[in-house]
Amino acid sequence: MINASDFGQNFLWGVATAAAQIEGTATQYGKGPSIWDTFTAKNGKIKKNHKLDPACDFYHRYAEDIALVKLLGFKVFRFSIAWSRILPAGRGEINQEGIRFYHNLIDECLTHGITPYITLYHWDLPQALEDEGGWTSFSINAAFNAFVSICALEYGDKVKNWIVLNEPFGYTSLGYMLGVHAPGKTGLGNFFSAVLHTALAQADGGKILRSEISKANIGTTFSCSEVLPSTQSDSDILAAKRVDCLMNRLFVEPTQGMGFPTANWDVLEKFQIEYGTWRLHERMKFDFDFIGLQNYFPLVVKYNAFIPVIQAWEVKAKSRKKPHTAMGWEVNADSFYNIVKQFAAYPNVKNIMITENGAAYHDKLINGRVEDPERIEYFKLYLNALLKLKKEGINLTGCMAWTLMDNFEWAEGFTARFGLIYNDFKTQERSIKDSGYWWQNFLKS
Ligand code: BGC
Repeated sequence: MINASDFGQNFLWGVATAAAQIEGTATQYGKGPSIWDTFTAKNGKIKKNHKLDPACDFYHRYAEDIALVKLLGFKVFRFSIAWSRILPAGRGEINQEGIRFYHNLIDECLTHGITPYITLYHWDLPQALEDEGGWTSFSINAAFNAFVSICALEYGDKVKNWIVLNEPFGYTSLGYMLGVHAPGKTGLGNFFSAVLHTALAQADGGKILRSEISKANIGTTFSCSEVLPSTQSDSDILAAKRVDCLMNRLFVEPTQGMGFPTANWDVLEKFQIEYGTWRLHERMKFDFDFIGLQNYFPLVVKYNAFIPVIQAWEVKAKSRKKPHTAMGWEVNADSFYNIVKQFAAYPNVKNIMITENGAAYHDKLINGRVEDPERIEYFKLYLNALLKLKKEGINLTGCMAWTLMDNFEWAEGFTARFGLIYNDFKTQERSIKDSGYWWQNFLKS
């Protein structure tokens, strides 16, 4: 039996969301198109050809949804700002309706005693900037910095908790190397340019927030996965090290002043030389107040000479006969424990917050009720591992469940349900799942 009070009085419990996944009104109220609007408009990119709009229609329903956050007992609400709602063309003219929307949302949180955590970039780049090359273009950095300044000056008096980027490895790899997320670009050249500009944006963003907002608590998030070799052969062990460089080390190490993790992988060494990234080590460094960790699965990898560049292959949870979620992701709280420890070992990581944690299952609404015992079990396992970390002295400041309600799950469209609240996408009717009620009780304990 685990209780919220076991984590101490100051531990922050929250629920996380992202603009593109919930807001809707993609072309209304002055918003400019984002790369996700463009990407989802094309057929064949998203499961069942689901279109992004109106998602959860959060733009119109935010007050009811914040009331649900309150009802479940969460003290923190994490949301992101849609860049193209503030700056429809990515830079230049400001859309005052967009500015007002986030003021209203922030005020709604504050009147309910809920602390807002703002993510500045959760993957929905303005299409106008993508037309210039997006994250592959050097011009992105000035545009991003201007966007950060606008948000900081506008909301910095009311909001003290900020997250610069959501999972930089997620969007640079899926969007600029594998092409399965927006903007659908592929290839190593695109990937490495996107990585470099992203690592700069990550630190620049932190510095701007620091200079514009007094008493700001500044973080950024990383996806992370413990990477294990499938056998103890030298080739599998080296394959696991390469994957670890990509999945875990690529973006945190530059913030620490260590540059990119070149030692275990000659491809990264070459990237460093070709792009001259060592000259930028100082600029890529930033002393974040906290880092956000988001772990969804461990990875077991095998050497495979036929896979270009990385020469590694994932041995899926299913084929290893491990328990997994509807996404095929292994449920393994021990590996969550291990990966948090790996990040906590960096000497300059001050505090860690779990900024997303959750699972998708095949939920069904039957007679007004969603029974989701697997998700409850999932949270129990992961929260127990978290408590163990906390008791061992890791500086853990809070935990946010992913996510408030079923939403647009990127390439999976509306088919993957991660919410604590079930959403009927035809009627937008919300129904709290059993796991939502479980959290409600847990947060009182
Ligand atoms: C992202 C979320 C996403 C979740 C589940 C995270 O990588 O930040 O936007 O919905 O994983 O896939």
